[in-house]
Amino acid sequence: MVENDNLETRLAEQDVFEPPESFVEQANVTDPNIYEEFEENWPECWEGAADLLDWYDDYDQVLDDSNPPFYEWFTGGTLNASHECVDRHLSERGDEVAIEWVGEPADEADRSITYEELHREVNEFAAALRDLGVGEDDVVTMHMPMIPAHPIALLACARIGAPHSVVFAGFSAEALAERMNAADSEYLVTADGYYRRGDPLDHLSKSREGVEKVEHDVETVVVDRLGPNGDDFGHDLDEDEHDYADLVADHAGATVEPVARDAEDMLFLMYTSGTTGQPKGVKHTTAGYLAWTAWTSQAVLDVKPEDTYFCSADIGWITGHSYIVYGPLALGTTTTMYEGAPDYPAEDRFWEIVDDLDVTQFYTAPTAIRSFMKWGAEHPQRHDLSSLRLLGTVGEPINPKPWKWYYKHIGGEECPIVDTWWQTETGGHMVTTLPGVNDMKPGSAGPALPGVDARIVDGNGEEVPAGGAGYLTVQKPWPGMLRTLYKNDERFIDEYWAEYSDTDSDDPEDWVYFPEDGAKIDDEDYITVVGRVDDVVNVSGHRLGTMEIESAVVSAEGVAEAAIVGASDDLKGEVIHAYVILEDDDADEDELRERIEAAVEDQIGPIARPAKIVFTPELPKTRSGKIMRRLLEEISDGEELGDTSTLRNPDIVRNIEAEVRGE
Ligand code: WT7
Repeated sequence: MVENDNLETRLAEQDVFEPPESFVEQANVTDPNIYEEFEENWPECWEGAADLLDWYDDYDQVLDDSNPPFYEWFTGGTLNASHECVDRHLSERGDEVAIEWVGEPADEADRSITYEELHREVNEFAAALRDLGVGEDDVVTMHMPMIPAHPIALLACARIGAPHSVVFAGFSAEALAERMNAADSEYLVTADGYYRRGDPLDHLSKSREGVEKVEHDVETVVVDRLGPNGDDFGHDLDEDEHDYADLVADHAGATVEPVARDAEDMLFLMYTSGTTGQPKGVKHTTAGYLAWTAWTSQAVLDVKPEDTYFCSADIGWITGHSYIVYGPLALGTTTTMYEGAPDYPAEDRFWEIVDDLDVTQFYTAPTAIRSFMKWGAEHPQRHDLSSLRLLGTVGEPINPKPWKWYYKHIGGEECPIVDTWWQTETGGHMVTTLPGVNDMKPGSAGPALPGVDARIVDGNGEEVPAGGAGYLTVQKPWPGMLRTLYKNDERFIDEYWAEYSDTDSDDPEDWVYFPEDGAKIDDEDYITVVGRVDDVVNVSGHRLGTMEIESAVVSAEGVAEAAIVGASDDLKGEVIHAYVILEDDDADEDELRERIEAAVEDQIGPIARPAKIVFTPELPKTRSGKIMRRLLEEISDGEELGDTSTLRNPDIVRNIEAEVRGE
């Protein structure tokens, strides 16, 4: 016990950690010169990433930067993502497991899918999609739980050159319809339901409700996940709904030649939240995205073909796309996907999976790590976690305390931790340590990756000196970057470039990418990302726009006006607080609360539900009528209030504060 206390004290005081020797000895990347070499040889340094792919036609040019910010990578090359992730591994790894699917404990339906099996099912479903009428460049939407048909559907789409657009299964009918309309998507793949904490859950009703709101006809494919356990939901398929298993059976043994896609052809769209109410359709293309996810999986996550890698994200978010499906499968490894919750049937669920499958890398979000901490070290201690070689985190800043807990109790002080900063828009990792090269500093993500020109600037775009704080920017393009916002080049420039670029220039040097995060930098160029500087809230690593939530709240009958802010939360990072003005002061507040919650769930999903709703007769506004969300945030966080002198109605903040504190 004494020894243990010493250990805790030592860990608490230590702020730099060297990569464990045992890890370095076997790491994919160990040469510290990589930073210099990439800088000197930019952009040709990315040829190595392109070499991880199996091209049909070689590319002519690494980077075409003649029309910034519409950069093109590996132009002239052709390839197919389904070939990269499946076919090319068949000769050497056909019998090896491509996907370890761990089903929700309710029905104990696990499945180890070999590359051979994955190949068969991807081909059959690709053939079926074609017969349904899906052509090259038709956008196919997915609204699916974490079941094998999900990655299979992605790869089947890629095979026939149909971009996919995945909408997180937890998103509402309204959110689904909005995204299908925006992408003009005429095809949907969904499921009858899934299991949550042992119970079957109806999902199809929500997807159907979404389809009804789509402005054009939709063909739907439905995976029967629940079997007889879903009978109570009474889902009989309509004539424009097709059973997944029937389609695959009808195409048993079919093969579909992967379509040769141009490097810059769209691989997928992913809608994400921004400052305005309208989600942004982030467009990723084939070669740059695949090269980026494959290279970072190798260099940062240290993935090797013989590994069993486990990322606990959902495929409905970019982390699942890049680091459950495309990156790991491009490298021919075994990737694990888990359908259920981390604490069902018990709080050791993940550790049981790591133990059972001999997982080598585990990649999760800080919010999950904070929960593990709260549940206690006895849960991992019940299992043999010695197969683990590397740990990762993503999605939000991680504080030193949970970092050290993760390092000690999950990694046994023998696994490096990569704290990876990136975004839906960047396609893959951008700022993180290289686990076999750099020291780790808990709380700081690390230096920018080799070849990534990340800099911290002040409000005028001037670089801040070491020790300073400001805004994170990326000053050179990179292969995994988004190419545009779907059908909206103008908004692409406005959202990501206008702030720090000379938008009239066609010199790439004048173009600077702005991810809308605040950050600090130290004297070794380690970047600590602090958080968003736009109206985006990060709830458990999920990105939600305050404007989207506001418009949902305001749509509730009886609500006159609303302001949404993110409030700090020990477990979730941030939670939603809603400040609401009612049309009628005498309205029944409990009823209104329920109505507001229902409106948010209907229009976005349960993850956006406010943790607190505060009714107030007024909102703090500037003289020009802009809501001062900063003050509301300070109230929510229980902080000292900042400057209120520019307010039109300074008294109101004191009243709101009293109301919140009084509760
Ligand atoms: C935003 C992007 C990247 C996949 C999951 C989220 C925040 C992400 C970190 C990190 C601090 C982080 C940023 C970023 N973020 N990773 N390691 N440290 N903040 O993707 O939904 O596009 O959100 O997540 O604020 O801008 P996303």
